[in-house]
Amino acid sequence: MSNTQKIMETVMQYAPDKEPNALSHRRGYLGTPLSRVDGQLKVKGEAPFTAEYKVENTAYAALVYSSVTKGKITKIDVSRAEKANGVLAIVTHENAPKLKNPPTFGLSGNGAAASDLPILQEADVHWNGQPIAVIVAETQDRAEEAATLVKVEYETAEAEVSFDALKKIAKPPENILGEPPEIKIGDAENALDAAEFKVDNLYRTPRYNHNAIEPHATVAVWHDNESLTVFDSTQCIHNLSYTLAVIFGIQPEAVRVISPFVGGGFGSKGTMWWNTALCAMAAKVVNCPVKLSVSRQGIFRIVGGRTPSEQRVALGAGKDGKFTALIHSGITAATRHNNFPEQFTFPVRHLYAAENFYIGQKVVNLDTVANTFMRAPGESIGTFALESAIDELAYELKIDPIELRRINEPTKDPVRDVAFSMRNLTLAYQRGAEKFGWQHQAPRSQKDGKWLVGQGVATAYYPYYRFVSTARVRIFADGTAVVQTSAQEMGMGTATVQIQHAAERLGLPIERVSFEYGDSNLPQAPLAGGSNQTASNFAAIAATIEKALRELLAIAGDDSPLAGLKYEEIEARDGGVFSKENSSKGETYASILKRVGQDYVEAEATSSQPSEMQKYSMGSYGAQFCEVRVNEETGEVRVSRWLGSFDCGKILNPKTATSQFRGGIIMGIGMALTEETLFDERKGRIMNASLAEYHVPVNLDVPHIEIIYNNIPDEHAPSGAHGIGEIGITGVAAAIANAIYNATGKRIRELPITLDKLL
Ligand code: MOS
Repeated sequence: MSNTQKIMETVMQYAPDKEPNALSHRRGYLGTPLSRVDGQLKVKGEAPFTAEYKVENTAYAALVYSSVTKGKITKIDVSRAEKANGVLAIVTHENAPKLKNPPTFGLSGNGAAASDLPILQEADVHWNGQPIAVIVAETQDRAEEAATLVKVEYETAEAEVSFDALKKIAKPPENILGEPPEIKIGDAENALDAAEFKVDNLYRTPRYNHNAIEPHATVAVWHDNESLTVFDSTQCIHNLSYTLAVIFGIQPEAVRVISPFVGGGFGSKGTMWWNTALCAMAAKVVNCPVKLSVSRQGIFRIVGGRTPSEQRVALGAGKDGKFTALIHSGITAATRHNNFPEQFTFPVRHLYAAENFYIGQKVVNLDTVANTFMRAPGESIGTFALESAIDELAYELKIDPIELRRINEPTKDPVRDVAFSMRNLTLAYQRGAEKFGWQHQAPRSQKDGKWLVGQGVATAYYPYYRFVSTARVRIFADGTAVVQTSAQEMGMGTATVQIQHAAERLGLPIERVSFEYGDSNLPQAPLAGGSNQTASNFAAIAATIEKALRELLAIAGDDSPLAGLKYEEIEARDGGVFSKENSSKGETYASILKRVGQDYVEAEATSSQPSEMQKYSMGSYGAQFCEVRVNEETGEVRVSRWLGSFDCGKILNPKTATSQFRGGIIMGIGMALTEETLFDERKGRIMNASLAEYHVPVNLDVPHIEIIYNNIPDEHAPSGAHGIGEIGITGVAAAIANAIYNATGKRIRELPITLDKLL
């Protein structure tokens, strides 16, 4: 497909300077603030999103969504829609090709579907907004026009959509991402009863919906009905190709997924929603390529978001501030068709020492679209409850909230009984407090005209994950190299940091190293999720480059100055391989390959099975500091200052890392103050399915955000680095709620903190 080639060429043109410099390699690319290698393409509009690909002879699809919550379609009348201008096909459950049930996303296995529901195979309706017909037409407008002409009759059934009504029958999930839903250490309730100082409160967080800048989109192209190429906006290239193969009953190798530039995902593209499969199905029906761009409203109907939660945090302590009881339990909502209880108790499992713990999560199943990952899924809402409660106890004890955290800093993982691989949270607090100018004054003691001013602080936490990954490298006789793996780039700088990494390992200038990714035909990398991608790719690329260098050493032969040297005795630098002992002894890649008459040397390798997470408690930590101003008359909240101080191991690229932290904090400001999915429990329907009514923070809502970090490598992580994509949002809502309390004396335990709650 020439079009595919063109796109891959765009992907490959990464070198910021097309003319390779002289061999100007210097050590230390990692840790330097390199700008995004795809930055120019992005700002020049040359980095296409999925819906912007032009595939010849494409038809366009639009979806019809169920307007009832539960029941059966008794009649679906497509006669008017069929006659509309430009309509090529209408696919409903009555005429849809038979599809196999989708394999769902889990911790192991390659399934990517967000739920196990059959896709457009039955008359049953499971949620309000479920796609019930796909219209394919010559243009997008005509498809959408025809979609309005489909008439549907339903037999409705009683739907369960009220979280509050069902809470009393909540049950523990089987597991939470492989972890137990409940942990008891000692007798926390008794210890709480006996504690001299205590807090015991409920915290509530609402539903939140995904609003990435690029809505979900797919272009599906069948080749002789046997193999399928899918352009899709996805965080899970390989799992998606496997999932589509299962659904359509073809070999995994027959499905190619291409996704080089993703306009944000935040978890919403980590699993497959119906749009992708429906687009591929439609392309099969009309026997030509089909494009399906989901509308912004459509995302609210077919893509799940963050579950609502009700959490209890109870803390007991003695006069010295040491926790005697730590209870964090609560309920979230999921569906019968997915398994995503949202791990809001993960932070409490690792953050504080206490004599007695009770940790427990329960779930109720609702008739809604499946809930899913949303940036630090459980940790962001979990830290809201936990870190608010710590602040509340600090006031009870009259101990500074930072000091209270320091007093309860554990020396080993509090529930797993293993050592921390790395933990410098106290240092992050010290450095943050100094830089921010932490001054904890009494509530309601600072005023600036009509504005009440306060400071708040909270701990950020996100686990470390690394998964098995595979990569390939080719070192060419012209002194360039390419690294290949099916990684995903959602704008976080994946390509940039791995080019820095490979250039450093190969001893090449960055201009001579390119990175190919975003294609399931490349060696298999894991999904971009759980902030794992940098560490996972790092380990695979390191193993791959080692293999290539060993191969080079082997082929260099007796005529090379390298003759007789072992791998352990060499280092890559200055465009080749040199003796560590004798700096003049060595040979460039170009020289070796030319002499032996090879165009390139190639190696492919798979990283080791990650065992570090089993051996150690591995997490990223941080301290969020903010200042808020609350208008005494209107209740309006302004976040006026922010500083995030992070402890995430080595920072591989300070520029892209700082942007990641900032992005997380901005998303957290939205979570704390403005965002909320308004859900009509009579209808089971989302009422504010647009950016006009679902309020994400805009420029004026966000102050300058200062970021500092410890930059202390974790010797147990292959890169010394921990993931940083998600931790930024954690602790943010609590820091804001704590600052609001400090400003106003009002404790708000329910998000978002809108002005009505402050009056
Ligand atoms: Mo993240 S919510 O694992 O994309």
